[in-house]
Amino acid sequence: MDHFNYLNGQLYAEEVAVSEIADAVGTPFYLYSTATLLRHYGLVTTALDGLDHLVCYAVKAASNQAILRTLVNAGAGMDVVSAGEYLRAQAAGVASQKIVFSGVGKTAAEIATALDGGLRQFNVESEPELELISTIAASKGLTVPITIRVNPDVDAKTHAKISTGKAENKFGVPISQSREVYARAAKMPGLKIVGVDVHIGSQLTDLAPFEKAYRKVSELTGVLRSDGHEITRLDLGGGLGIPYAPSDEAPPHPSEYGKLIKDIFKRLNCEIQVEPGRLIVGNAAILVASVISCKSTDAKNFLVLDAAMNDFLRPAMYNAWHEIIPIQQPEEHAEEIRYDVVGPVCETSDSFACDRVLPSLCSGDLVAFRSTGAYGAVMASEYNSRPLIPEVLVNGKNYAVVRPRPSIEDMIDRDIIPQWLCSSSSD
Ligand code: LLP
Repeated sequence: MDHFNYLNGQLYAEEVAVSEIADAVGTPFYLYSTATLLRHYGLVTTALDGLDHLVCYAVKAASNQAILRTLVNAGAGMDVVSAGEYLRAQAAGVASQKIVFSGVGKTAAEIATALDGGLRQFNVESEPELELISTIAASKGLTVPITIRVNPDVDAKTHAKISTGKAENKFGVPISQSREVYARAAKMPGLKIVGVDVHIGSQLTDLAPFEKAYRKVSELTGVLRSDGHEITRLDLGGGLGIPYAPSDEAPPHPSEYGKLIKDIFKRLNCEIQVEPGRLIVGNAAILVASVISCKSTDAKNFLVLDAAMNDFLRPAMYNAWHEIIPIQQPEEHAEEIRYDVVGPVCETSDSFACDRVLPSLCSGDLVAFRSTGAYGAVMASEYNSRPLIPEVLVNGKNYAVVRPRPSIEDMIDRDIIPQWLCSSSSD
């Protein structure tokens, strides 16, 4: 459930008409709903009630300061995967003790930044990384809490590009080798083993892969404890999926996910951490775009929008299906047309939807892509020299531009012409 609904024939974001924001901001833009964000954050925390737990929002899903601040104020911790995300989380006011640093290739500079600013733990992905963190922490006279990310070799049954828990994926330490790696970590200075970490993929729509992976982590916890390690914290990753297409089978409700976690882990008396991104922010934004033109060929009706693959990459990259709705609610029995919905970028892959049935639309009409909050704005680029599009946050009757649209001049001015190109050609 989200807070983007029709009222009197117009799409509203909470209590603000989307067309009013479009008039003020111009299209295309991302539009987030505070109420939806908080509702989904609440669903996750409630699902884990009864366990000592911390929800560490995966900043990579949407990293605008206003989104992070909204979640921090609600009590969230943050899961970060780069110095940039770490500093974003800090800037949004997250206590360092609530920042978890994940990521498969942390650099020495990133590790030092997090050690200097403080953190809850590193989720360590390999033995060389253990050694690097140990060396840097010890050189600073620090001892840092760590978990080791184990790769349980479980098929998450999701899109291959976002599956992370199989043996052939680059992530984590193979669970079969983890006992020896923990033993070696225990001897390294500057590290304090506190737990185990696992994350098997994103947009999981079935609990079975979670169950398989979590049972392996539970068993490993027992083994590691019998080896003498103090395992007090389990980081269970993110990955629970959200509904995108109305026809899709609904993914499990967060409460079912919470029940599974309790069933498997309650008896271990550990702190439980989760790192959801999509589940919290996925349905909390729409992408609003205008129709530039409609063009019919013998083969197709194309609806050309002012948004493109550089603004919203998921359809081109993962063949992702996103619901597209007009901002003006269609009349009942309005004429419908089968469109290919495309952007203006010079690639055939700049296509959002193929043969999509929509009410007849014309140039200037506004449309919204639903469920674009996660991995939308953060994956945008300036391809085709198209400036990044604005982000807007609604809260009840209020809205604010939380990232403005840069001008084309701003974009060009970032480039530097080297001195040898500055002199005139006759010199
Ligand atoms: N923790 C770790 C270590 C992760 O790698 C990820 C996502 C998460 C948590 C959050 O997963 P979530 O709860 O959002 O599923 N760009 C892709 C998704 C990439 C996910 C990468 N890792 C997409 O648009 O579908």
